[in-house]
Amino acid sequence: MRFDILTLFPEMFSSPFQESILAKAIEKGLIEVRTINIRDFALDKRRIVDDAPYGGGQGMVMKVEPIARAIEQVKSEDPSVRTIYLTPEGKPLNQEMARQLSSRSHLILLCGRYEGVDERVRELFIDEEISIGDYVLTGGELAAMVLIDTVSRLLPGVLGSDRSAEEDSFFGSLLEYPQYTRPASFRGYEVPEVLLSGNHQAISLWRRKEALRRTWMRRPDLLSKASLSEEDKKILEEISKKDVS
Ligand code: ADE
Repeated sequence: MRFDILTLFPEMFSSPFQESILAKAIEKGLIEVRTINIRDFALDKRRIVDDAPYGGGQGMVMKVEPIARAIEQVKSEDPSVRTIYLTPEGKPLNQEMARQLSSRSHLILLCGRYEGVDERVRELFIDEEISIGDYVLTGGELAAMVLIDTVSRLLPGVLGSDRSAEEDSFFGSLLEYPQYTRPASFRGYEVPEVLLSGNHQAISLWRRKEALRRTWMRRPDLLSKASLSEEDKKILEEISKKDVS
């Protein structure tokens, strides 16, 4: 899968893709991340990419022409590319959206700065607007990194085994169960007995219960979307009774 990032700050992307899982994914050719400096597509000698807003007001607006030229260059190589604009006004990113995006072979990620982009960029070139949460970043760059990370780990071969992505929080709309590793005892805090028992059935049941408990306590909104068995529903009933008493 290929990501073309349109940004005024390409240097920001140098380190996140040089470490760990994403670096390996690039090395293996599973993902390709390219940064394109919007400034390189400015029309004038001074390479101006922003201007004051028509109608007045604070701040600067990113000009339409450099962005248009940059997008058109990528599109000339691949007309089927999907163009995403990272903005707090976009649709909030979630795991389901990440899964849908992971089926695409090529995305353009446009990172806004200042007061955003000229509205005509959105009208003419943007297929989808995505936000990574209800807060305002200094620009779309960090949001683009989050999106690339979230989508890439869903691609076959990027994580060690394909199972890891499926077992994560949100896959079945439950949060994850607690994890422990050695030592079994730390400052008087013990690893739950069942995890040391070697009884795989009991371990699975404990984990499911803990995932349900954690989701019920922290994110009850997720339970309505989760696929729950009759057994799960019974467990939840027990959990809610215990909490009330
Ligand atoms: N740019 C600024 N804030 C953002 C956010 N929350 N999500 C995506 N892009 C942004």
